[in-house]
Amino acid sequence: MLVKIVKYITKKGGKYWPSAEMKKIAWVSDNKIYAKALKNPVKFWEGLAKEGISWESKWKKGYEEKLPYFKWFVGGKLNFSVNCLDRHLEKKGDKIALTWIPEPLEEKSVKLTYRSLHSKVCKFANVLRGFGVKKGDVVAVYLPMIPEALITMLACARIGAIHSVVFSAFAADALKARIEDGSAKVLVTADGYYRRGKKVSLIEKAKKGSKGTSVEKVVVVNRLGGSVKGSKFVDFNSVLESADEECKPEIMKSEDTLFILYTSGTTGKPKGVIHDTGGYAVQAYWTTKWDFNLHDDDDVMWCTADVGWVTGHTYAFYGPLLNGGTSLIYEGSPDFPDFSRWWKIIKENNVSVFYTAPTAIRMFMKSGEKFIKSKDLESLRVLGTVGEPIDNDAWNWYLEKIGGGRCPIIDTWWQTETGGTLITALPGIGPFVPTVAGMSFPGVQHIIVDDKGVEKKKGELGFLVQKSPFAPGMLHGVYKNHKKYVETYWRFWKKFKKPYYDSSDGAFVNRDGLIRITGRTDDVMKVAGHRMSTAELEDAINVHKKVNECAVVPIPHKIKGEVPVAFVVLKSGEGSEELIAGLKKHVDNKLGPTARPAVVYFVKDLPKTRSGKIMRRILKSLLAKEEPKGLMTLVNPDSVEAVKGVIGDVKGE
Ligand code: PRX
Repeated sequence: MLVKIVKYITKKGGKYWPSAEMKKIAWVSDNKIYAKALKNPVKFWEGLAKEGISWESKWKKGYEEKLPYFKWFVGGKLNFSVNCLDRHLEKKGDKIALTWIPEPLEEKSVKLTYRSLHSKVCKFANVLRGFGVKKGDVVAVYLPMIPEALITMLACARIGAIHSVVFSAFAADALKARIEDGSAKVLVTADGYYRRGKKVSLIEKAKKGSKGTSVEKVVVVNRLGGSVKGSKFVDFNSVLESADEECKPEIMKSEDTLFILYTSGTTGKPKGVIHDTGGYAVQAYWTTKWDFNLHDDDDVMWCTADVGWVTGHTYAFYGPLLNGGTSLIYEGSPDFPDFSRWWKIIKENNVSVFYTAPTAIRMFMKSGEKFIKSKDLESLRVLGTVGEPIDNDAWNWYLEKIGGGRCPIIDTWWQTETGGTLITALPGIGPFVPTVAGMSFPGVQHIIVDDKGVEKKKGELGFLVQKSPFAPGMLHGVYKNHKKYVETYWRFWKKFKKPYYDSSDGAFVNRDGLIRITGRTDDVMKVAGHRMSTAELEDAINVHKKVNECAVVPIPHKIKGEVPVAFVVLKSGEGSEELIAGLKKHVDNKLGPTARPAVVYFVKDLPKTRSGKIMRRILKSLLAKEEPKGLMTLVNPDSVEAVKGVIGDVKGE
């Protein structure tokens, strides 16, 4: 296919704006939409819900709020898989819904049309029903980036089961904790996958993680040619083949749960974030359409996120399908067989919307620049970024080297909890400013407040909160944990009666009224865009037989954004290189390699307050070579000098 090279941005007054060509094709190009939407956000979202989503029966009430809970489209009924598939069949049955690129070069890509995906989803939905899975039951999904992940998730949605996806790089213990919390009856997994040219096994972790749990059946995708024995285990393809293709969708209430997804907070145990059906569908549909200006003709959207994270749920799978678009996913690593792989995929598949994380961009800046050929990237129109703050250099590099100075950079701020993007520039409106996410999505309002919920002035740093009415895609609670839900997100409401959702991010509004995110304000790190809590890591390290206690803090890292550093107090004896390696391996086994500490220090004591609280803030200052403040509150001020003594030049991995 011949691609017309178009400039979608133009520079005016030192800033990038959409060009006339972009304005012409943009779904929204008039910034009056923001004020219009905020006049009556509920009416605005009701209009979008009607236009974008197919309902079995219309809602009776647009929005209902009894804080800390709220509901959208109350009384409305729909099925999510029907919205992703059935409604496109008549006109787009033969259109490609999903292109899957396997990592091995000798394997061909797989293209699933809407019709073939629909057939597989219906069949697998019947398989799940056959295993006794009913509406409201949880199905655990522990799969790599392969089409079966999408088939499984949509099959769950078809029968009203709740999917709970667990990132395939997580360890068996992490899988087990999530299975147990959701009391999952069925686990869908694979024997393994390809990564950097090697076979990576998943099945051993899946077996270990599901042993002794509520899981009655394990469905295994045969990706690496293995076979699995045992009465609990069945082969994905065999059960799919023999299943019936007719599957009546379960009609769900708008506020019924579509999925849960576990994410890290301040405490050690990950929380099951609950997303509903109707509100999430509306936000996934419209944010995909407007943020990325996705058209359903020849657009191909590639979101590089893994399905184990919310970005993979909403923008690798659901958003493009709700829009009747084509999504592309890739199984493997960006550097296999070398750093040209991603760009070849873009060229060969005419990818027009590309969505990735700053970590990936920084990795290419450092190691992969020579593999980028502008000729390979001419099909691109919109570039997105997500997951962590993007620095000036990475933003400009992305714009020039990948976007050829032609494509807008859409920096999207959001969270597992928000279901879809919430703060961003829109491609037809702009402006596109390095390090600045932009405006709240139309119909949503964020403000910056101090610790008592009083609004800050422009330019002042504070806590980023969302005002009522809350966006339709927002979480609807923490699975089986009301207390955690209130404590984590509703402190301003609880303490000061302010109807604000607390994002736990710091931010400020700049002179132009655009929001700049500065990062987390709690003990949560973003390591290569992956979210994890220091407490989760500390809990994992603390159970090592040689460890008495530990503290984990993040340090800045050139590529990954942040990496964890562990300060470990041993029960007895001295630390050694061998023990460091052992501790890293231990973390790999407990949580997965994404959580592995970059540096481990052995210390005799950790700085603590009189009540025994570990002062991570002081450790952070010491690592940054700053003079720590607040030493008066310490019960053991000597510990500070001792820590200083062991910190050398911190480099990370
Ligand atoms: O700190 C913010 C950061 O990622 C956190 C949410 O992480 P998670 O739930 O894993 O979801 C990531 C993908 C949606 C936020 O609290 N974050 C996300 N996007 C941005 C960001 N920080 C700065 N700029 C962004 N665009």
